[in-house]
Amino acid sequence: MSIVVTGATGQLGRLIVQHLIADGVAPGEIVATGRRVERLADLSERGVRVVESDYSRPETLVEAFAGATTLMLVSGSEVGQRTPQHRNAIEAAKTAGVQRIVYTSVLHADRSTLPVAPEHVETEALLRDSGLAITLLRNGWYTENYLGDLAQAARSGAIVAAVGDGRVASAARDDYAAAAAKVLSTEGHEGAVYELTGDTAWTFDELAAAATEVLGRPVEYRSVTIDEHRAALEAAGLDAGTIGFVLTMDETTANGALAEVTGDLPALIGRPTTPLVDALRAAQA
Ligand SMILES: NC(=O)c1ccc[n+]([C@@H]2O[C@H](COP(=O)([O-])OP(=O)(O)OC[C@H]3O[C@@H](n4cnc5c(N)ncnc54)[C@H](OP(=O)(O)O)[C@@H]3O)[C@@H](O)[C@H]2O)c1
Repeated sequence: MSIVVTGATGQLGRLIVQHLIADGVAPGEIVATGRRVERLADLSERGVRVVESDYSRPETLVEAFAGATTLMLVSGSEVGQRTPQHRNAIEAAKTAGVQRIVYTSVLHADRSTLPVAPEHVETEALLRDSGLAITLLRNGWYTENYLGDLAQAARSGAIVAAVGDGRVASAARDDYAAAAAKVLSTEGHEGAVYELTGDTAWTFDELAAAATEVLGRPVEYRSVTIDEHRAALEAAGLDAGTIGFVLTMDETTANGALAEVTGDLPALIGRPTTPLVDALRAAQA
């Protein structure tokens, strides 16, 4: 068995490699890949094979995947480029003789209203058409996505958002990585679609309470309208693209699209997901 992990130079991929080793996979059976491989010196020293590859340069992917039985395809971060990049990775996997691909998609990709969903839907279709064994890890929102709110709270004592009483069942990036490692290193996941969320759907009042605990200062949730939030973000000097994304996420959260708790994540990792306050504290450290 040999497992190649893309995005290993990023946060989730690195954690997946670390969990694979912790779960007993021999470092020599793991290939860690990405562009900025200088970030992987410590893993290389532990015996992990490190190979540079770029989703936009198919020949580098074939080289990185050669000899692997399983590909952990961590979705790329270049939004708008991801479908062709993932197509390159899937084609390279077929050329290299990979038997199974595990892919990090998005929660309920098929009916998600999140702006990031379409590229995941397209990638899932490419995977189904590939003829290879596939497993879909439809990841929910990362708790670490709220570190910006924590920083804002540290400065101002407030978390400002137009989410009303919308809830978010986020999980720590490390929980998603633990689930990925489990699926990669154990049998019986071919064809499975896992909808992964945290165990608790928290409100922004609860986020403020967690921030209060982590920061050691009072933090309140200031609920504003979309127009008020737009004005505040413009006054803070954010660019139009970022403001659009933040406001879309406000609406998505207010509509309850991030609120579902599924139970798939604790079932895979064999323990409850990391509580909000613990995940924020760990991420901040
Ligand atoms: N569920 C969520 O809340 C959430 C939030 C953010 C992101 N995501 C998704 O989850 C993925 C992993 O998250 P993360 O936190 O680990 O993101 P990250 O730290 O930004 O890592 C992204 C990884 O993608 C790799 N990558 C990007 N473009 C590439 C290219 N052209 N060729 C090869 N590798 C490329 C990067 O490697 P190099 O730059 O070294 O090549 C890096 O290893 C993201 O890429 C994104 O698709 C999910």
